[in-house]
This record gives sequence, C-alpha cells and structure tokens, in this order.
Amino acid sequence: QMAGMDMAGMLHHTGPLTPETTPPPVTPFTTAMPVSPVLRPAARSSTTDFYRLAIQPANVEIFPGTTTPALTYGGLFPGPTIRARTGRAVQITYTNGLSEVSNVHLHGGHTPQDSDGYSMDTFAPGASRTYRYPNLQQGATLWYHDHAMGFEADHLYRGLQGFYVLEDDVETPLRLPSGEFDVPIMVRDAHFDENAGWVSAFPRDTVLTNGKIQPYFRVAARKYRFRLLNAANDRLLKLNLNGTEMIRIGSDGGLLPTPVPETELSLASGERTDFVVDFGRFPVGKQLVLSDANAGPVLRFDVVRSAPDTSRVPDVLRPLPAMPPATVTRDITMSFDFTGATPVGLMNGKAFDPNRVDYQIKRGTTELWRIHNGDAAPLDHTFHVHLVQFRVVDRGGAPLLPVDAGRKDTVFVTAGNSVAVQATFGDYLGKYVFHCHFIEHSVMGMMGQIEIVP
Ligand code: C2O
Ligand code: CU
Repeated sequence: QMAGMDMAGMLHHTGPLTPETTPPPVTPFTTAMPVSPVLRPAARSSTTDFYRLAIQPANVEIFPGTTTPALTYGGLFPGPTIRARTGRAVQITYTNGLSEVSNVHLHGGHTPQDSDGYSMDTFAPGASRTYRYPNLQQGATLWYHDHAMGFEADHLYRGLQGFYVLEDDVETPLRLPSGEFDVPIMVRDAHFDENAGWVSAFPRDTVLTNGKIQPYFRVAARKYRFRLLNAANDRLLKLNLNGTEMIRIGSDGGLLPTPVPETELSLASGERTDFVVDFGRFPVGKQLVLSDANAGPVLRFDVVRSAPDTSRVPDVLRPLPAMPPATVTRDITMSFDFTGATPVGLMNGKAFDPNRVDYQIKRGTTELWRIHNGDAAPLDHTFHVHLVQFRVVDRGGAPLLPVDAGRKDTVFVTAGNSVAVQATFGDYLGKYVFHCHFIEHSVMGMMGQIEIVP
C-alpha cells in the first residue's frame, strides 16, 4: 500500500521525491466554512438510534469551481456528524462502495471488540457491516475513520473521516455554548496536483478546514464552543487567533476539570481540543484569523452581528475521577528501522504482526505505560490506544503539555522523549490495537495489540 508514497519526505519532512506539483490557486477567505450536517437516524427505538451510511467515492469541492475525487462517508468530506447521547445506543450500518476492503473505527470510543474497527476486521466491497456503540462513556468529541489494515493511511488521506459528538446530560446545566454555537472544526493537510487531485507526497502544504482551503466563518458577537480535531495523517498543529484568548474546556475524552485560557493550541494527529472563544469582546466588523505556526492562516472568523448570549464558561467544569493505583508497568518503544531498503515502523523492536498479541491484560487492571520515542529528531510520534481513555502522568520529568490534560486517548511523544500514561482496561474482552497516529508510521508497522482477558 506504500506505492507512490514519499518515504523520505514522510519521515523527515524534507520534501517530496515525486515532482513538486502546484495546486490551483485559491484566494484566501472567499469560501464559507461548511459545518458538516448532522446525520439523521433511519429509525429510532426506545434505546437506540439506527443510522445508515455509505462508504463511497464522490466528487467533492475543495478548490472553488473544480472537483476532487474523494473517498467519502455519504458523499461528504468531512463525513456527516453523528450526534449521540451518553446512555443511548447507536447502531450504524455501513455499506462498502469502494473497490477494496474498508472498516470504521470510532476513535476515542469505549467500544465492544466486534464493533471497534479492529485493523484485520474489515468488510469487502459491496458488503455491509453494522457497528454497535453503547455510548457508556462521558460526553466527548470523538471521530470516526477508516482503519482497514494497509489501506488506512490512503483512506483517511482521501477523505474517510468524520465527527462523532457524544453529548451528556451532565454538561447541560453548565450552559456552555450549544446548538448552532457548538461547531466541530476538522483541520488537516494535503498536497494536490494542478487538477485538484490528491498527491500523497510530502510536504502536505495545503491545510483543509472542514474540507475547505482558508475559509471564513461568520459568527455572532457572543461565545462559541469549537470542537477542534487534528485529522491530518501526520502533522503537529500550533494554532493562534491573533493572540486572542481561546479557553480550553475539553480534551480527547471530555471536559477538563477547569477551563484553561490559552493563546496557542497545539495538537498532534488524532488529538482533540474543545475551546470557547468569546467574540462578544469584539465589535461587529472585527475579523480574527486562526493561523498555524507553520502553515499560516487556516480560517478567518468574521464577527457579523450581535446576538444575545446566556451561555457561560463556569469556573468548574467536570472533576476527573480518581485513578486507581497501577499494578502493572510496561515500557513501549516506538521507533523506525532504517537498515533495510524501506523503513519499517516498530513497537519494541517488532513490526506489527496481526498474529502476535503484545500484551495480555486482565480485565479491570490499571496499568502504567511508559511510552518512549526511540528515534532522533525530527521523528516525533503520537501514541494512540483503542478502548480506553488514559491520563498522562509524566512527560520525562518535564512539565506536562497543556494538551496532556484530562482524559486522553492520543498523546504526542517527541523524538527521544518519553511519556507515561495510566489507564484502567475494562470491561470489554478481546483484541485491540495501539499505534502511532501518524498514520503512515502505523501502516509501516508501528502498531501492536493488546488482548483483554477475563
Ligand atoms: Cu484514530 Cu487506531 O485510530
Ligand atoms: Cu510515528
């Protein structure tokens, strides 16, 4: 699956091996940022919402006036947003309209094994598959994406990614901005050719914000909640808003204990940050640009009207549960082997093998994982494990990053450094993967698996 992939560029971000291509020019801030429509259930029972969604090729408009052939959920890029509620189950029946296998992983979901989108558990072209999500976890900004072994990097890159927003009654009395003022924003990168087609080479210098290049978003002069996802295959985002305060309220797995005002949001592939911006501080007519430290402007907010605002950001959001003490400690090293003709991704010196279980974990055990990046700069990694939310407890003795706070399922591990995380592994049994969420690394072998046993 690595054909055409630019290995050196991917690993070192030094530039493409394939000829540089020039995408069609785009005038900044001339396209409105779309907000993906919320998918409507095909049926509802007293306990469950039932959805249907096609996995299908479709032409999408990324460059104004021209189309890009993408791989999509329901014809949309990003895919439609699933809005679910804690305690109410969701079933989604996907039909595979691709010419190759697919599957769907709910990233951040506490999901029974047979619905997790386990790498080897794929379904064929023309086949359908129903995933069952009990939603027995707190409200959080989750996302769904392809996870078919060997195909995931290409499938994500070409568009198979969408939001799954889990809402929770506990949040309601907090009166955070909601409804049309609660806006998911997916930021990722890509490289395109002159015909607006995807090129998998690096550098991926075009940033897509909800699928558009440098869009604008019209806002009222009031508070908004943004659910920010870094859906890039391989990028660290560092976003600022002209120095304006962005109040971080949530992490991968839900709300933080208290709000944290920041002027830069930094997140690696797979990570999410919920934050509030109060545009009520600005007059109508004000424009604010969300910019990435490396890629430049990614989105402009235009304050276009005044509006009443009864929402707030309370001083106390949601306490984190106490962590039971860890009874098992493991060391996991992520690295590359550069000795062969092509680099191989490794976990503890071994490339992924679907027939090998790296760790058996007794259900209910709390474990401390020390995750090491065994590579030298600039080879950063981002570690993700399925099934659980963990807590980052150490960053090699250095202070934790702001993005480490709260309930996490993905953590950034810079070159040569270590991060310790702690999680309790329950209550579903079976095999789940852990991997680098720089997806090209994962496809090259930087993945392992756990098996939860009774
Ligand atoms: Cu977002 Cu195993 O994936
Ligand atoms: Cu990696």
